[in-house]
Amino acid sequence: MPDRVCLALVHHPTVDRVGTVVTTAVTTLDLHDFCRLARTYGLGGVYATTPLTAQRDLVASLLDHWLTGRGGEANPCRRQALQGLRVVESIDEAARDVAGRWGDEPELVATSARGGGQRVSFDEGRRRLASAERPVLLVFGTGWGLAPEALARCRWTLEPIQGPGEYNHLSVRSAASIVVDRLFGR
Ligand SMILES: C[S@@+](CC[C@H](N)C(=O)[O-])C[C@H]1O[C@@H](n2cnc3c(N)ncnc32)[C@H](O)[C@@H]1O
Repeated sequence: MPDRVCLALVHHPTVDRVGTVVTTAVTTLDLHDFCRLARTYGLGGVYATTPLTAQRDLVASLLDHWLTGRGGEANPCRRQALQGLRVVESIDEAARDVAGRWGDEPELVATSARGGGQRVSFDEGRRRLASAERPVLLVFGTGWGLAPEALARCRWTLEPIQGPGEYNHLSVRSAASIVVDRLFGR
């Protein structure tokens, strides 16, 4: 059922270091890595969400380069990965697009480095996704994480990845790889 699970990389609403709701800039490296991750684990694709038209144009030009331009000619594997990328304005638009593709509203699942509140363990998450009847949007933040309204938009939140110590500042790319492997890895 991994092919009905998509990753969402959210650039708004996210928070900054002091908790202010912000819009973060798209980082093309994040998009490449999310797409390679989704393709490697047989997921349904990747949604990059940003309310900024200029940023969506940036992603569109990246897609042109890799899907129809010289990038894809030089690196067909990367073209394959980026074929799964869609850029949309918001989490809601990503959810609508998933509903359009699979004929059913997706279940939104959040990720966060912050613990507290109800969190679902990776083992339980793995079980839920293995038996899920609806498509799923696995939501990742940027900046200092998803804003409370984005977390509230999600049905449940996975437990945070934790190392042995207090320090916990994974990049979203690293976190996504660990989360996806714990949920879908062999
Ligand atoms: C740079 S991190 C933001 C870290 C932020 N302190 C937070 O509370 O999520 C951006 C995104 O990576 C993911 N992430 C980062 N560290 C994580 C962790 N330890 N456990 C789960 N997800 C994590 C989350 O999706 C987070 O929104």
